[in-house]
Amino acid sequence: MDGVLLAGGTGSRLRPLTASVCKQLLPVYDKPMVFYPLSLLMLAGVRRTLVITTPRDHQAFVDLLGDGSAWGTELAYAVQDRPAGIAQALTLAEGFLAGRASMLVLGDNLLYGEGLTAVLRRMAALERGAHVLGYPVADPTQYGVLAFEGERVVDLVEKPADPPSRFAVPGLYAYDGTAPARVASQAPSARGELEITDLNRSYLADGQLEVSCLGRGVAWLDMGTPASLHEAAGFVQTLQARQGYRVGCPEEVAWRQGWIDDEALLACAAGYRATEYGAYLERLVEEGA
Ligand code: DAU
Repeated sequence: MDGVLLAGGTGSRLRPLTASVCKQLLPVYDKPMVFYPLSLLMLAGVRRTLVITTPRDHQAFVDLLGDGSAWGTELAYAVQDRPAGIAQALTLAEGFLAGRASMLVLGDNLLYGEGLTAVLRRMAALERGAHVLGYPVADPTQYGVLAFEGERVVDLVEKPADPPSRFAVPGLYAYDGTAPARVASQAPSARGELEITDLNRSYLADGQLEVSCLGRGVAWLDMGTPASLHEAAGFVQTLQARQGYRVGCPEEVAWRQGWIDDEALLACAAGYRATEYGAYLERLVEEGA
């Protein structure tokens, strides 16, 4: 399965922070925001990813992430001219995917917790249909929301004023090779966007939507407002300080996946000389775990 990382948009809810700096490059404690969703794809086992940016920010992502080879991965880039909707990422990725299945992640989503890697691997093993997540939130009105009949998902609704459940759909989705064609036949919503919720509904209508609801042991944070950005940074800092492990560290994931060896990890560390981040990577090699 290939990855699609959507890192465009206007970041309007974070202005003036995003007036001249891309949201997904803003710091979330000790690393750029995009490291978190990229690490998720890598944890799922995805090694080949298309990063979609605004025309303005394209070069900044290339400068940060390069071609991915330092992490044993392959990164390619595409540009979204204007934010015409999340689902458009799949039509922009059509040539890159060439009929293969994809895992789409939004560049402002952070997921972390016990059992998550197993869920990600199950999503990445998808052969047919689509696989999305459900996660209970206190206020679902700002998200795509699941509607249930008993335990069965019967609908998905985007930003409902009167939510049918507390289960929101996080910005991490797995699709089979039919996704770009499905989006191509979608009409824009009332707000003028190709909605990811409409794509998910098309799979549901075909009886091909799998939903995995995450438990309370997993944290899902988005980082689209000043408060949620600050909360995410606090979450990362607290966990890292307590456990001594880093959250959302792509170099570590690559090394644990066996995509890079000790020497390559030390080469990454050398690029972060005199930082805690670099020292952490060196310690991984010293301790071997
Ligand atoms: O975070 C999960 C939620 O993401 C889902 O529950 C919703 O169903 C889904 O619509 C989306 O809701 P948001 O309101 O968070 O979407 P937003 O427009 O803020 O876009 C999410 C990210 O995707 C954001 O970082 C910007 C980027 N984006 C968005 C659009 C519409 C693009 O790169 N291009 C776009 O065209």
